[in-house]
Amino acid sequence: MNSLRIAITKGRLLQDSIRLFEKAGWDCSNLRDPGRKLVCSVPDGGFDAVLAKAPDVITYVVNGVCDMGIVGRDTILEHGGEFYDVLDLGYGKCRFVLAVKNGDDFYGTYKTRRVASKYTNVAKNYFAQKGTDVSVIKIEGSVELAPILGLADAIVDIVETGSTLRENGLTALETVENVSARLIVNTASMKLYKNEIMEFVERCKAALPLEDK
Ligand code: PRP
Repeated sequence: MNSLRIAITKGRLLQDSIRLFEKAGWDCSNLRDPGRKLVCSVPDGGFDAVLAKAPDVITYVVNGVCDMGIVGRDTILEHGGEFYDVLDLGYGKCRFVLAVKNGDDFYGTYKTRRVASKYTNVAKNYFAQKGTDVSVIKIEGSVELAPILGLADAIVDIVETGSTLRENGLTALETVENVSARLIVNTASMKLYKNEIMEFVERCKAALPLEDK
């Protein structure tokens, strides 16, 4: 067969994935220095790495043009799709929180609350589960601005260190979901290339946990 193809989320998850692959014993020199190249071969790992944006990692895996993907659980929760979520890689740890302006009482009103988020499905699902009536407003980035400017009563957003919330006078009220990087596999690839994929998964598993940098 040809090499397996694995789509990897560009940015920090890619850097951690390279550290994982190197710990698994594969030479990642092509990946470490890709220039503008978007497909890089890792010959001794028997795979090609496809460098993509997080939602596109899911699109390529769901459509079967990549056999596997490395993507954050945040993107999986927001976009969904049919694939196997086979391994929690443990890096890229952060969480979705519900946050408000310091001192605000989010639940202390009968009015429909306005919640801003880049992850509108995550926000809608969370409040649907709780049975709380909210109106969700889509914001593309720097969601913390929405309550500051008075557009929303709260945000559902990703928190890693907590500095962005702190420096903008916001407080996390509740954890909505925990997030980390996941290894996902296309359902047909799992049948067709089971041995190769399971070998890849086992090699990654054996190299975990990845030490903090
Ligand atoms: C994310 C998130 C927060 C920030 C949290 O934004 O949306 O704004 O990081 O990190 P912290 O808890 O370590 O401060 P990102 O930088 O990805 O940009 P965005 O707001 O444009 O999505």
